[in-house]
Amino acid sequence: MSVLRLGAPTAFGESIRVPGDKSISHRAVMLAATARGTTTIRGLNRGEDVAATIGAVRSLGVAIEDSVETVRVTGGSLARETGVVDCGNSGTTMRLLMGLLAGRTTCTLDGDASLRRRPMDRVAKPLGSMGAAIETSSGTPPIRITRGDAGLRGIDYLLPVASAQVKSALLLAGLRAEGATTVRSPHASRDHTERMLAAMGGRIESAHDAVRIEPGELTAIENLVIPGDFSAAVYFMIVVAMSVHSGAGLVDVGVNPTRIAALDVMRRMGVQIAARDEVDISNEPRARLFVNGGTALRSAHIGAADVANSIDEIPALCALAALGGVGFEVRGARELRVKESDRIAATAGLLRAFGGRVDDLEDGLIVHEGRSLRAPARVTTLGDHRIGLTAATLATTLGSPIEIDDADCIATSFPDFAATWSAAFGCPLN
Ligand code: S3P
Repeated sequence: MSVLRLGAPTAFGESIRVPGDKSISHRAVMLAATARGTTTIRGLNRGEDVAATIGAVRSLGVAIEDSVETVRVTGGSLARETGVVDCGNSGTTMRLLMGLLAGRTTCTLDGDASLRRRPMDRVAKPLGSMGAAIETSSGTPPIRITRGDAGLRGIDYLLPVASAQVKSALLLAGLRAEGATTVRSPHASRDHTERMLAAMGGRIESAHDAVRIEPGELTAIENLVIPGDFSAAVYFMIVVAMSVHSGAGLVDVGVNPTRIAALDVMRRMGVQIAARDEVDISNEPRARLFVNGGTALRSAHIGAADVANSIDEIPALCALAALGGVGFEVRGARELRVKESDRIAATAGLLRAFGGRVDDLEDGLIVHEGRSLRAPARVTTLGDHRIGLTAATLATTLGSPIEIDDADCIATSFPDFAATWSAAFGCPLN
């Protein structure tokens, strides 16, 4: 458990590049593992979560060649039987693998202490109705999957909560089911799986928050290029937005509409953000984002319809409101209770450590108006990378140094965070 010491900011870098999108990276490795041929992936996220996916897929017998610039995955055959597949701290790895391996591979999926607390019934139950033999340990990992001779059958399933992970697991299982599989969702959630399946020749259609997939084989994408992670970009955007006389650009950031609800929320709060040079590569849009600093903010609220598409940015949005001294209310976000930490409690605790006035609700948070923030000398991440990144955002915006305890978890999604942050804002590292 290491401590990250960030000094006070001294300058603004001109252009900032964030790591590859974590969600798309998981999907790239897993879908390539099941596609015919070799997929060459560029811009893969090099954090620990995606490394867990690479390790897991390798342990299933898939050949992955990793060089600095590219990762080449030759797919087609996954083991019929193996031992324990380690998913580390990564919920996405475990949930998507449940769908990929259901009915096909006898194995046990396991992970670290935090992952062992996370709910897996939401995936195991619908996969069970497709005919898969999957047992959880009272709803959580380890997960036992048993290969079956009978095969899977397609289902028509309404997700109880809008979750891209559950949707994706069912779509991956649907690739090998008899008949079509339809997944309906109460609200839209990130559609990276659908886009990549379509790019690999999957027979998939989406309409009105419902996705339908027909069984079929996938074909490798010769050159799959992953955009920068919007969820990582948001911390930089907040520091820039709240700093007087500043402006900065982030290059090559993924701007998939199902991921950037936080961008709309920030604009509603008054932040000036321009997206330029948008292009579509590997079926995912990306752009340069320019943020102007020094704008006075307005209060805002978000409800269930915005939550699924801004779920990972909610701690950062709460921090933005607290920094701007404006009110912010989040409702319909009970899902935050079962992330890498209880993110409602963790966000409220972090903001209070900075002097913010916050109420934590069963399904959200209220940040109260008023400018009262002061950086504490030291905070803890509670083992949650997004809490560590939000702490850095708060301290740097306030112009203060900070010590972040238990900071190793930041590498879950952002491997070179300290160096990138220090280069962007001139925060000395010591
Ligand atoms: C993810 C989906 C979200 C998100 C997680 C990554 C994905 O989880 O919080 O960080 O890659 O599909 P849910 O789908 O469970 O909401």
